[in-house]
Amino acid sequence: MQNLPRVTYSNIGADFTPLHAYLDEAIPAFERDVLGKSWESPFATGAKKKLFSPIDPSLVLGEFPVSTADDVKAAVASARKAAKRWNKASLEERLAFAERWRGVLSEDKYKLGIASLFEVGKSRIEAIGEAEESVDMLTFYPNELKRNDGYRRQMIEMVPNETAISVQRPYGVFAVIAPFNFPVALSIGMITGALITGNAVVYKPSPECALTGLFIAETLKKAGLPDGVFNVVLGGADVGEALTKDPGIDGVAFTGSHKTGMSIFRHMTTLPYMRPVLAEMGGKNPAYVTKNADIVRAAQGVVRSAFGLQGQKCSACSVVYVDNAVKEQFIEAFKEFASKLVVGDPRRKDVFMGPVYNDAAAARFTAAVEQARAEGKIHFGGEKVEGLNGNYFVGALAEMFAPSNLTKEELFVPFVVLRGFDRLEDAIAEGNDVNYGLSAGIFSQDQAEIDYFLENAEAGVLYANRASGATTGAWPGGQPFCGWKGTGLTGKGGLGTWYLPQFMREQSHTIM
Ligand code: ALA
Repeated sequence: MQNLPRVTYSNIGADFTPLHAYLDEAIPAFERDVLGKSWESPFATGAKKKLFSPIDPSLVLGEFPVSTADDVKAAVASARKAAKRWNKASLEERLAFAERWRGVLSEDKYKLGIASLFEVGKSRIEAIGEAEESVDMLTFYPNELKRNDGYRRQMIEMVPNETAISVQRPYGVFAVIAPFNFPVALSIGMITGALITGNAVVYKPSPECALTGLFIAETLKKAGLPDGVFNVVLGGADVGEALTKDPGIDGVAFTGSHKTGMSIFRHMTTLPYMRPVLAEMGGKNPAYVTKNADIVRAAQGVVRSAFGLQGQKCSACSVVYVDNAVKEQFIEAFKEFASKLVVGDPRRKDVFMGPVYNDAAAARFTAAVEQARAEGKIHFGGEKVEGLNGNYFVGALAEMFAPSNLTKEELFVPFVVLRGFDRLEDAIAEGNDVNYGLSAGIFSQDQAEIDYFLENAEAGVLYANRASGATTGAWPGGQPFCGWKGTGLTGKGGLGTWYLPQFMREQSHTIM
């Protein structure tokens, strides 16, 4: 099992045959042995709720309890108690814990990945990829902490014999609120950031992702994290709100919708003093294809990042600007590649796209397709896949002849708008004219065009000529995942060097 090929999203040409052979047995075994159980969790004493898989709404993930208002208070109290010691844990102790956790995650990564396949409806490659990414986070972040000596800095000597240093101290207790689309990697990224910088955590997985949430808790227990340093609450928006509004919370790490993120920020302004909010809140991510592009590579990159995980990535490409001179060629290459990709039950190895997550996503997709039929032109896809019990759709490429809500708003479904352009400058100006700023990509063999893009695109994560995903596939240590504008506030992304200091506050020590 240890020698199975790794999935890093960008290694698309790798031979995954041995991994598929393993999953051919592991997926049915997981379905048989793990799904459908009734779960308990210490800070979730409310009525149990049955959760279903988007793969097939008759497939029961399990029955999970929900946290009451008192449970949330108790979880925060537990974190505060444990924080007294964990906030003072030495760098060595935190690094040793991270090393043990990495070991546990390496052992459990396929279990976590398969859980996300069932919970989210991810393809095998997407599901295993996020579990691999989590293991690499536990390599990258602790190394950064160590390499930077806990971000401690010697300062200047103002007078003889006086020493001044800058040290970084944890805030105390962080609330970590995770989204559904990467229930493993995004949870583990935020939890790692908080824990290894010395904060205790109260974690709320997405309401439908209790299974991966409880699995993550198990891995932390196995890694020997002291009791109370990590606490789970389960439930929806009301539980999240009670958590972020609890006065015992010193900071929030949140990934999810713009609406929820903004309401957390608004709440912070009502407090006697502000707490840090590390928020990653979606994107409307453009790709630009110039007449100097390798068109086949461009089309494949756009298809992969628009339709991978059914377009439900904050980094998904959702608008492609194509030079009118190569537009028809691009559309043909797009159709040729996209029509070969299989939409279906993601337990199968040949499937690229599973179902969209829920009925609300299905309704957004259908409404976008209808609008595009009325106001623009659908060049590819848009149909429901019949014969499957779930929200399965062929991803759509829709040409729109003017900017609109479809070119500006995040839809979080496999729907990519095509816009023809004559001048790259105009296309980039339009692509920038959105409230988000997460990722953007260009396909061009012309260095001047690439330079113009790198200089002018208003987004935190830029790619040139990435066929594995025009705007997707950031990896720990490779691509800091920085949200500009409405995507985030700090502009210091996960997966990069400046992520960890955001979980700490600086203190200067001057000693004579
Ligand atoms: N790391 C994921 C991506 O970049 C979210 O697509």
